[in-house]
Amino acid sequence: MKVGVSDNHLRPSVALLDPELTVGLSPYVTACSGIDALSHAIESYTALSYQYVQAQGKRLFQGSLPISDVLAYRAIELIARNLPLAVHQGSNIEARSNMLLGSLLAGMSFSNAGNAAAHALAYPIGGLVKSPHGEVTGLILPYVMELNAPVVPEKMTRIAEAFGMSLSGMSPKEASLSASKAVLQLLEDIGLPTRLSQIGIEERHLAMIADEAVKIERLMRNNPRQATARDYEKILRKAL
Ligand SMILES: [Fe+2]
Repeated sequence: MKVGVSDNHLRPSVALLDPELTVGLSPYVTACSGIDALSHAIESYTALSYQYVQAQGKRLFQGSLPISDVLAYRAIELIARNLPLAVHQGSNIEARSNMLLGSLLAGMSFSNAGNAAAHALAYPIGGLVKSPHGEVTGLILPYVMELNAPVVPEKMTRIAEAFGMSLSGMSPKEASLSASKAVLQLLEDIGLPTRLSQIGIEERHLAMIADEAVKIERLMRNNPRQATARDYEKILRKAL
């Protein structure tokens, strides 16, 4: 498994955001790191409310909070509007600046609220293939959003609005599902894979990925929809 390392000692005192340092990044690295920042923003924005997170003892992540919501939502707006530009116009300093700000706000959000199922599923997948973390998390994100939409419909609808989707005439259910479609479209626009088979995952891996992912409680308990390993296996199959 490829896993994250988390501790309060890892929180920085100062973050310097210098867009010129990112100008030389390839479109692929820009896309992978940018979609990871979007995953942080969306997963912490739609995380289970802090009031309902059930955990014993010391915990690193609180679930979504009014303050993390504001940070995450602004991050989603910035990343939705600037990631395609940063990928396709590498020297666009304004897009690079906005991506850095978006990634910082998303980081401030998720380091308090926490990430959820897309990150948990990405860990065992990351151990099986050579893809970078962002590519895997971004690929699985729209499928997790589809699973979560029925329990966080208003937040998903606001995400679709941040992407500039036209929602008029849609039922509330359709509007909430368009957030997932917007992320799929973004993946295509920035040239990242949208199917697990594209990164080398096969049918025979799916049950193991789901079984390993549900063990990552730190992330899974933050997911707004409580789901079983078999539920996750179903969405992995959809993503194959
Ligand atoms: Fe991440």
